[in-house]
Amino acid sequence: MKNILITGCGGQIGSELALELRKRYGGDHVIVSDVRPILEGPLVQTGPVEVIDVLDITRIVAIVKKYDIDTIYHLAAVLSAVGEAKPQLAWSIGVNGLYNVLEVAREYRCAVFFPSSIGAFGPTTPLDFTPQDTIQRPVSMYGVTKVTGELLCDYYHRRFQVDTRGVRFPGIISNVAPPGGGTTDYAVEIYYEAVKSGRYVCPLRAGTFLDMMYMPDALDAAIGIMEADSAFLKHRNSFNVTAMSFDPEMIAGEIRKYIPGFVMEYDVDPVKQGIADSWPNRMDDSCAREEWGWNPKYDLEAMTGDMIKVIRGKRI
Ligand code: SER
Repeated sequence: MKNILITGCGGQIGSELALELRKRYGGDHVIVSDVRPILEGPLVQTGPVEVIDVLDITRIVAIVKKYDIDTIYHLAAVLSAVGEAKPQLAWSIGVNGLYNVLEVAREYRCAVFFPSSIGAFGPTTPLDFTPQDTIQRPVSMYGVTKVTGELLCDYYHRRFQVDTRGVRFPGIISNVAPPGGGTTDYAVEIYYEAVKSGRYVCPLRAGTFLDMMYMPDALDAAIGIMEADSAFLKHRNSFNVTAMSFDPEMIAGEIRKYIPGFVMEYDVDPVKQGIADSWPNRMDDSCAREEWGWNPKYDLEAMTGDMIKVIRGKRI
């Protein structure tokens, strides 16, 4: 990777991934882009920033040529809960946007990182220790776009030798930019509300187990798969990766170690609950561990200590 372009960089993952990549590769070698202009903050201060609508292929081509891009981290997407409210938009950004990126990558010989998701699974998937290769019949539009994306990336690798790689991310928990409209967002919101008001109204039922990951591990996953020696990769575009699995009661319990009076109430959102029920309880990520050395560092306990410390420091 010499010159990297990131799409959808204003989102939860991009805003931290860009800074990590700039640390490793140099500010001028990591081009940040989003459909909404990024006008201030660390992304602007540390290197080039551009506006790219991934539905506009001529714009992607112009930026790839301008900076001699060889690697694209394609993060622009619509998350699962918003995707149910706006399924046409979710398809358009999720599939047509990726298709544009892959076409540019084919023409200009770029490697592509594509983040798939636990959303690529559905109710007929084995939900405990979900295997790497298994049934994928998702019921959300988000999931449909992710399965399509995995297949498209495989196709572009096989047919055109584009170096496509990716992981199936679980819910990502972080404290810089908020997630935008996902089913797993509760596991971020709960920390902010716990610090701010000592209570949280949870949209998912107690007992709803989902895979999760703290942002530092998510950054390691995204960079690790792109830096892996391709000779060892039997899979490419959709490695299961996970760091922990918990339900709302477990995260509330951890928070009470720091905020003993923390109160959790439930007001179940039927759309989010339906999506969460169709997703794995815990994925088996042994292929990622074996093929490219995936090894997360944070569990629920370590993450909670860090999240509370950082959020308290923000004086929200
Ligand atoms: N965090 C995502 C969502 O909830 C899952 O990939 O939509």
